[in-house]
Amino acid sequence: MSNITFTMIKPDAVKDGHIGAILNQITEAGFRIKAMKLTQLTVDDAKKFYEIHSARPFYGELVEFMSSGPIVAAILEKDNAVADFRKLIGATNPAEAEEGTIRRKFAKSVGENAVHGSDSDENANIESNFHFAGREVF
Ligand code: CMP
Repeated sequence: MSNITFTMIKPDAVKDGHIGAILNQITEAGFRIKAMKLTQLTVDDAKKFYEIHSARPFYGELVEFMSSGPIVAAILEKDNAVADFRKLIGATNPAEAEEGTIRRKFAKSVGENAVHGSDSDENANIESNFHFAGREVF
């Protein structure tokens, strides 16, 4: 069990002005921010980040959406970070997300679903290294 996870506040939630509310819910839940930035993925960045989904029918839509506007990228620290963060954000499809979860509150659809959360310790490390240099992590 690792104690870090990686998150992005996605273009829909940034555009709608939810950065503050989402970060507040994350820190209130006991996560410490180890690294954070406001940035925008290029099409190539988004293709690489989501390469694991390249065979899926929604890959093109996902890449287009994730590169469409600024995002907040962050590394979060907490005991059992990956599992606890996935619980906090709720199901990928906001219609199936539990009451009170970040996606239930802020997501619009399965594609525009407000936040990303790593699905394993291995991916938390890969995704953190994709976005941050060592000197940006505290
Ligand atoms: P995320 O946790 O960022 O990881 C992969 C993303 O693919 C997921 O969130 C969704 O936003 C997106 N996704 C999954 N299923 C679909 C779908 N059926 N249509 C569009 N996007 C999807």
